[in-house]
Amino acid sequence: MLFSSSPSSTHNWNIIMSNANRYTGLVDRYRDRLPVSATTRAISLGEGNTPLIKLENIPRLIGKNVEIYVKYEGLNPTGSFKDRGMTMAVTKAVEEGSKAIICASTGNTSAAAAAYAARAGIKAFVLIPEGKIAMGKMAQAMMYGAITMQIRGNFDDGMRLVKEIADKAPVTIVNSINPYRLQGQKTIAYEIVDELGRAPDYHCLPVGNAGNITAHWMGYTEAVANQPADQFEQVIYDAETDQFTGPKPEGLPTMVGYQAAGAAPFLRGAPVENPETVATAIRIGNPQSWNHAKAVVRDSQGWFDELTDAEILEAQRLLSMYEGVFVEPASAASIGGAIRDIKAGKIAEGSVIVCTVTGNGLKDPDTAIKQCSDAVMLSIDATLEQVRDSILSNM
Ligand code: F0G
Repeated sequence: MLFSSSPSSTHNWNIIMSNANRYTGLVDRYRDRLPVSATTRAISLGEGNTPLIKLENIPRLIGKNVEIYVKYEGLNPTGSFKDRGMTMAVTKAVEEGSKAIICASTGNTSAAAAAYAARAGIKAFVLIPEGKIAMGKMAQAMMYGAITMQIRGNFDDGMRLVKEIADKAPVTIVNSINPYRLQGQKTIAYEIVDELGRAPDYHCLPVGNAGNITAHWMGYTEAVANQPADQFEQVIYDAETDQFTGPKPEGLPTMVGYQAAGAAPFLRGAPVENPETVATAIRIGNPQSWNHAKAVVRDSQGWFDELTDAEILEAQRLLSMYEGVFVEPASAASIGGAIRDIKAGKIAEGSVIVCTVTGNGLKDPDTAIKQCSDAVMLSIDATLEQVRDSILSNM
């Protein structure tokens, strides 16, 4: 009887609870640099603290002397970087007494919202574009118990509806227009600076709604400025002045944002009416953090660029086959774009480059399997002979 079992009396909970070294998520880890108090109860699944993996084979393959790292955000509890923002957004929503959260999503935000709502014991309502989210993300929303609305429209339609409904129903928006989301997501830059002992020369990442590139910049500025705890000043984008507030340290990275060619409003200079790409996570035509992201690229002397679907899928496969890092298509835009810019000399040799790989490859098995028609997949009898022959003919 799964739901009626009584708590075990045999555990000594005091021993377990007293383990002060246990990693308990990024709100606890960075409490002094986040908008929470000493007593705020963190709604956490142990997110953050993801591996920064140095690529070994790809730099050799492209014949360039560069240090490339991938920050593997697919190892967060729901398999994407969204968990960083969601732990903060749900922690604050619960602290403020909210009983329900809502978001529009291309799949990852909805998975994270659903999981953290489950953890907090509140409701999650998610709007997703019908037929356009990856299977793993759909499974997550269902398993975590969200109320899922598949809309006959795209992410931008969902976003418009979520913004309109917020003052008509008692729900907290947890899209990245909720400022706590970017506060959580900025912690990725803290971890990178901690590990490298400095910021990289270049930071490359995929751009959809453009919240994450903004959060990275806020985090890098705060981390590099290395402010004493009692004088800590948060960095935020001020829409009135079109400037980031706070310290302006030296040694910040050049920020590079890559979009899918069919969903590249920053390259077109205007919203895209009907965005289309195999990288469904970034199938967005009207980014909510437009001005913020433009300011990041301006201040860091960076750039936006675009990749075709074919280039995105090629990068996804390359990263899997040569480094053993399986990411979802949207995430591969960062590494595909970086490789192209390194080869072209736009990113100089001798540089240290970090690419955020935003989501786990397991999220989208359909797209992965479809592009592996040439993978070696043998169908054999269950005999020793056939197994041996299969090995010998493939050595
Ligand atoms: N990569 C992945 C895997 C994503 O899911 C997203 C956004 C991005 C990159 C782009 O980040 O929007 O901050 O520029 N996914 C959102 C969602 C839109 O609903 O899951 P961004």
